[in-house]
Amino acid sequence: MIAATPIQIERTTNPKVKPDQDKLGFGVHFTDHMFIMNYTSEEGWHQARIVPYQPITLDPAAKVFHYGQTVFEGLKAYRTEDGRVQLFRPDMNFKRLNRSNDRMSIPPIPEELGIEAVKELTNIDQDWIPDGAGNSLYIRPFVIATEPLLGVHPSHEYQFIIIMSPVGAYYPEGINPVKIFVESRYVRAMVGGVGEAKTAGNYAAGLKAQEAANEQGYTQVLWLDGAEHKYIEEVGSMNVFFKIDGTVYTPALNGSILDGITRNSTIQLLKHWNIPVVERVLSVEEIYEAGRSGKLEEAFGTGTAAVISPVGELNWLGEKLVINGGATGEVSEKLYNNLTGIQYGKQEDPFSWMVEV
Ligand code: COI
Repeated sequence: MIAATPIQIERTTNPKVKPDQDKLGFGVHFTDHMFIMNYTSEEGWHQARIVPYQPITLDPAAKVFHYGQTVFEGLKAYRTEDGRVQLFRPDMNFKRLNRSNDRMSIPPIPEELGIEAVKELTNIDQDWIPDGAGNSLYIRPFVIATEPLLGVHPSHEYQFIIIMSPVGAYYPEGINPVKIFVESRYVRAMVGGVGEAKTAGNYAAGLKAQEAANEQGYTQVLWLDGAEHKYIEEVGSMNVFFKIDGTVYTPALNGSILDGITRNSTIQLLKHWNIPVVERVLSVEEIYEAGRSGKLEEAFGTGTAAVISPVGELNWLGEKLVINGGATGEVSEKLYNNLTGIQYGKQEDPFSWMVEV
């Protein structure tokens, strides 16, 4: 069932003071409005509305609090130099949201309605899209199970909400190589589990290892497979790539790895440049072998928040591996410049990725 009604709009009468554009951080400030839509088994998705940003009231028995039936997405709106506002591949976010919904037994959201909601909300709060190098508007759609019932069954009631946050460049000083701890004890996900769904529990599951890595001076962890702790999956909350002897490798999607939109875009760009790119199972041992023999040229993470995050050093069971002398590699830099160039409308968009609001 699809709500035939258009999106109702209630504008704020009390706009907030906007934050200093030079000190935005990530997900700290929120815009004046939010989108909400409700679901019940009887009515389907209905009551689509944009309202002033505000707290939501939920029954303490709402299933999301107890059983984690929830999914989210992340995408960005960019202001171009000539004043246009554009989104990066929003269709991909709503396709993935529905794949996550399916895995978490949440009813699908019509893709066009989701994109329309993002466009309307971005349009209403367009004054919140910051100028300045690397600044953008981070858009966070999410679904929560709201039925107040403690039985372990899929909820019959949900809310789909979109909030937005003006954000700075993830790394204010530009792309900077990070030190990564190869995690051999904790795992993020298992094949057959929910690793490929963008669901809250995957992120909660990663916090303990992240804290331990931080304590030892590492920014993030490299996640290995849950069964054997041998094969590479992701880095922190990003997908991961390695350049070995001229070829770029990334772990093949296997059900426990998130199908990242920046990952997909990176693969397309590499192919477009005729740089060989291979998706396959990758063991941490072979990455170290390549490193020891001088063939490991670059490593980097890909994600919406940081775009490209070079890896300067790995630590696996105490053995440290410095990559590219700890500096940003050529391909990492080229990918960062081209992806952000396309996003900010500074260069041609050969794949028609950008969608104007
Ligand atoms: C990303 O955009 O790279 C992420 O997944 C991070 C987000 C959860 C803050």
